[in-house]
Amino acid sequence: MKHICIIGISGKLGRYMLQHALARGYTVSGVCRPESVHKLDEWKDKITVYPGRTDDHAAVSKAVEGADAVLTVLAPWGVKGYSTNTASAVMKYAKPDARLVFSCGWHITRDGQDVYSWKLRAILAILMPIVKFFRLVDINDQYRACDMIFNSGRDWTVVRGCNLEEGESEGLPVWSEHVGDPILASNLVRRTDFALFMVDAIDRPELSQQAPAIVGCKSESVLAHQGQAAMA
Ligand SMILES: NC(=O)c1ccc[n+]([C@@H]2O[C@H](COP(=O)([O-])OP(=O)(O)OC[C@H]3O[C@@H](n4cnc5c(N)ncnc54)[C@H](OP(=O)(O)O)[C@@H]3O)[C@@H](O)[C@H]2O)c1
Repeated sequence: MKHICIIGISGKLGRYMLQHALARGYTVSGVCRPESVHKLDEWKDKITVYPGRTDDHAAVSKAVEGADAVLTVLAPWGVKGYSTNTASAVMKYAKPDARLVFSCGWHITRDGQDVYSWKLRAILAILMPIVKFFRLVDINDQYRACDMIFNSGRDWTVVRGCNLEEGESEGLPVWSEHVGDPILASNLVRRTDFALFMVDAIDRPELSQQAPAIVGCKSESVLAHQGQAAMA
């Protein structure tokens, strides 16, 4: 049976990943902030939780011990290197051959080939300095964390999510290498399906050392693309 560790297991994405992992019969461990452990009460007999912030090396080292795969919610909280410390803890303590899957947003680019809408560029240019000023989010730290992952030589996948919505699963999201691909234009995915993609990526070697940008499989842009392909 596979052992999966989820770093940031109590958040919305983390709890969906936990449910998909249990549904696949995996043994699950995880790290979450001590004040959030209660959010996992429903599953407390089925999982092992190590309370600690996700950049707490002691908690991460215990949780990832023996894990075949580590799924990490790369949240850009705080201005004290939270994302970089989270990523470095995971890469330091996970087994050398562990599958490492990280979540982030479309704003992360691996090769600079992504093409962003004016709206997303405006959000990053205007909003990010404001949230950094109020010491809420440091998006540059998330860029640094991802660069560290890209250059690590590990068996990583960085899943880049678009706008998220709640709702029943629609199925496995569609992905593209680059934002700007018309298939991604709808810019919307169900949060549960983002989590499904993260868990599914564990067994998809073609996603190793890739940064897929995802979109809902029933979104308008995907359906339009499928319609065009059928007509061709
Ligand atoms: N929200 C979006 O529209 C969106 C869009 C694209 C990509 N994403 C990506 O999707 C992933 C999940 O995002 P989400 O919006 O669904 O969030 P989420 O899963 O609900 O929460 C993310 C994590 O942040 C933790 N957290 C919350 N406040 C914190 C604080 N002050 N200090 C430290 N940790 C804190 C949460 O832990 P607790 O349970 O302890 O609160 C949780 O583990 C992220 O990687 C994000 O970059 C999100």
